[in-house]
Amino acid sequence: MSTAEWEHFYASHAPPAELPEHRQQITDFCKHHQPNKIVLLTSGGTTVPLEHNTVRFVDNFSAGTRGAASAEYFLDNGYAVIFMYRQKSLEPFSRHFGGQKFLDMLEIQEKGSDVAINVKSNYINTIKPILSKYKSAHRENKILYVSFTTVSDYLWLLRVACECLTSSGANCLLYLAAAVSDFYVPSNEMPTHKMQSGEGAPVIQLQLVPKMLTPLVNNWVPRAYVVSFKLETDENLLISKSRHALNKYKHKLVIANVLQTRRHQVTFVTPETSFVINLNTEEMDSGIEIEESIVKNVISCHKEHIKQLDSH
Ligand code: PMT
Repeated sequence: MSTAEWEHFYASHAPPAELPEHRQQITDFCKHHQPNKIVLLTSGGTTVPLEHNTVRFVDNFSAGTRGAASAEYFLDNGYAVIFMYRQKSLEPFSRHFGGQKFLDMLEIQEKGSDVAINVKSNYINTIKPILSKYKSAHRENKILYVSFTTVSDYLWLLRVACECLTSSGANCLLYLAAAVSDFYVPSNEMPTHKMQSGEGAPVIQLQLVPKMLTPLVNNWVPRAYVVSFKLETDENLLISKSRHALNKYKHKLVIANVLQTRRHQVTFVTPETSFVINLNTEEMDSGIEIEESIVKNVISCHKEHIKQLDSH
């Protein structure tokens, strides 16, 4: 990909209004945690607006489960976490209490005019460890939340975050689990207002989003350990496409997964090897999450990367 392609994308998409504030927050966070290990973790899907005043957009399946769970395991392992997530997708800690689950854990006790809302006793042991980890991560300023919605917000934020992380060198880990759109409608081809059905069915021409892994690996954070994810629905393509990505972008690790089995199986693909991480039914039934093993293995690859760069 030529530099012109990705520069053109940035030139034709205005940065999100909150970008300067995010830059400041990320800069402060990185300074605070230097020289410790820090992970930039991306999570959730991106939208592709079809109108400038957006009523309709193209989206994808990702709920951000992988990213939100992985963030907790990175914190458990001492990393500072920049959690870059799709607004309204799952977040670390609160993900355990989504929807009606939280309300089911509470009970109302009324004595005359005194009303108390308590956690039901059988849920205390579930909530307590999660709540204490949440409190300590926030007290110690170990996690920073920055959000995006559209694919262009995502790409702007990714670039700015990388610029802030350059000075962390090899201590920086990029864990790119977000499901980023490969297609978009160029700004100058988008109607300003809501498309009208009275005008007939629209014909929408999508264009390719440039793969930002190219400038990211080569220019933005050349010393960082970069992990990308590869999602396929056809298992037969998984390894060949992951190897293709490693050859093309020159990073060190692709974690490959298939849509239907992603909760219990992933394949680590490096330039030299590949190995599978699998959860069996018993492990899944007991609440073990595959992200715990993914993060453990990624951390040991990151350690190896730091050792290699330090010895040069
Ligand atoms: O959120 P969950 O429901 O838990 O699901 C988790 C997941 C399936 C989304 C996650 O495990 C995963 O596989 N994420 C990556 C999916 C994906 O977008 O794959 P891809 O083949 O489109 O992209 C491969 C890599 O290229 C990605 O790491 C992405 O950061 C990068 N990319 C993508 C598009 C783009 N324009 N530029 C990029 O650099």
